[in-house]
Amino acid sequence: MINVAIVGVSGFTGLELVRILLHHNKFHINYVSNSTGGQSLAQIHPELHGVLDMAVSKTSIEDIADKSQLVFLAVPHQTAMSIVPKLLQKGLKIVDLSADYRLDVATYETAYCPHTDQTNLPYATYGLPEFYSKDIAATSLVANPGCYPTASLLGLMPFVPYIKPNTPVFIDAKSGVSGAGKKLNATTSYMHIQENSFAYNPLAHRHSYEITYILKNLTQQSWDINFVPHILPVSRGMLTSIYVQLDQTIDPNKILKEYYKADRFIRIRTSPPTIKETSHTNFCDIFVATKGQNLFINTSIDNLSRGASSQAVVNANIMYGLDERLGV
Ligand SMILES: NC(=O)c1ccc[n+]([C@@H]2O[C@H](COP(=O)([O-])OP(=O)(O)OC[C@H]3O[C@@H](n4cnc5c(N)ncnc54)[C@H](OP(=O)(O)O)[C@@H]3O)[C@@H](O)[C@H]2O)c1
Repeated sequence: MINVAIVGVSGFTGLELVRILLHHNKFHINYVSNSTGGQSLAQIHPELHGVLDMAVSKTSIEDIADKSQLVFLAVPHQTAMSIVPKLLQKGLKIVDLSADYRLDVATYETAYCPHTDQTNLPYATYGLPEFYSKDIAATSLVANPGCYPTASLLGLMPFVPYIKPNTPVFIDAKSGVSGAGKKLNATTSYMHIQENSFAYNPLAHRHSYEITYILKNLTQQSWDINFVPHILPVSRGMLTSIYVQLDQTIDPNKILKEYYKADRFIRIRTSPPTIKETSHTNFCDIFVATKGQNLFINTSIDNLSRGASSQAVVNANIMYGLDERLGV
């Protein structure tokens, strides 16, 4: 068995990691922590009562290194990059769910804040397995992708060769409330969110930098990404509706099937997917339609699963040379 630590176990993606890893036959949860410690897992997550009621520690690098070989960081950005250098020094493998290692310094500092671990940043691998599995298998530090970038990039990539050059790409995306994490705020309070829906950070959301940066990295081309996220009054789930102009007429389903023929977590759909159909799974469901040379791409994922924790476990499976489907 490979001993595993979950740092940030008290959050939404931390709980999701516990749920997934409980069913994993090679990874054993041996250490869990948050910023304070002092409680049991079942006190923090009562649904784990009688299932896994271990002590939640205050995060300690020494204890993580003593008790684990693989670490999932389910903590906010900035916190992750304050921990990663010490964990790498201890020889641990890391899957970081935060944004800290997904971008280059310039892009990160434009979208987030000053980067405090520029030494290790170049050695991180972006953890979108459909495109980077060889690199993931060879690295000790995986930057698990953001939820919106996962749903957007998986939809867009098959059609890159057919998109009319120098035309904008429009991504209209929607997320369940858990995408914002457990911290309470006025925007995601029940009174504001129930029976309500709205755009936020239109054309300026941090994930538009990530989508643009990774797309450029994958295609060696520049992109005009116009990304508008919306909140849905549901706890989990994510949809994207992507609109692009093509430079030729295509059979989009034929292209999709060929592109993803070896990928087990992509499902090509003949009708638009709902968020319930991918809920609690690592699937990304994709539906496409064309009108002349206009293409509509529709993707559905679960933001907490494929958008975070199940994708993190798939990445860890690949890092250890295991079947990528183990546990998920
Ligand atoms: N939610 C999503 O759909 C989603 C999707 C993709 C990626 N992500 C990313 O995944 C990360 C976690 O997201 P989340 O939604 O699970 O956030 P969350 O619900 O707010 O949980 C974050 C957790 O990090 C813990 N934490 C903060 N500082 C810590 C420290 N020094 N040591 C240990 N734990 C610490 C907090 O513990 P306390 O209990 O002590 O406050 C909190 O429980 C974030 O970087 C987020 O951007 C989230």
